[in-house]
Amino acid sequence: MTFDRRIKIAPSILSADFANFGQECRAVEDQGADWIHVDVMDGHFVPNLTFGPAMCKAIRPHVRGVMDVHLMIAPVDAYIDAFAEAGSDIITAHVEAGPHIHRTLQAIRGTGAKAGLALNPGTPAEAARLLLDDVDLVCVMTVNPGFGGQKFIRSQVEKVRELRAMIGDRPVHIEIDGGVDPATAPLVAAAGADVLVAGSAVFRGGSVSNSAPYGENIRAIREAAEAALR
Ligand code: DX5
Ligand code: ZN
Repeated sequence: MTFDRRIKIAPSILSADFANFGQECRAVEDQGADWIHVDVMDGHFVPNLTFGPAMCKAIRPHVRGVMDVHLMIAPVDAYIDAFAEAGSDIITAHVEAGPHIHRTLQAIRGTGAKAGLALNPGTPAEAARLLLDDVDLVCVMTVNPGFGGQKFIRSQVEKVRELRAMIGDRPVHIEIDGGVDPATAPLVAAAGADVLVAGSAVFRGGSVSNSAPYGENIRAIREAAEAALR
């Protein structure tokens, strides 16, 4: 994985057909997705349940590019090796998931995976300041984690701006997760985000047997974000 700040679109398979993950991953990549975002939920840290390392391992052969695994689980540390062995390129943990986030980030990097730090909407940018040399990505949640299809929380745009200034020249991505569509993407791109996760706004209108809408949706988000940078 080489570092760059170009806009990357990361479809969240939370909005894909759960009976068809392998084909869905191939379909969105064929239609222009940069990364595949995998939302792991435990029914405890967030009020929803999705899937675990076995599912990540099963889809890995169907993902050509980056598999970006977002852990909405607590505790985290006991599961890091399993997600790394499943082939995750990036493993993101929440700062709110426990008292020892620094140890968690070290453990993630220790597996050889890239380490991400996610911040809930109620957590200020300041929570990331002392961790910026220990992460490869900061994920700004622009909805409360747990479900796809929620409304983008605008107060987070200023947080993105603060994080971008804090990060400076470090090779750290800023990822936006929740409510990203062609209307909200320009706000966060202009504030300094480079990875845009989108679930409902990518998968709406399409299917594995009719994947052209995925491409149109991805292009619309990318073009809106890039236009804000010109
Ligand atoms: C929310 C997840 C997101 C979600 C985004 O807990 O982390 O990745 O799938 O879905 P949309 O784009 O529909 O808001
Ligand atoms: Zn996510």
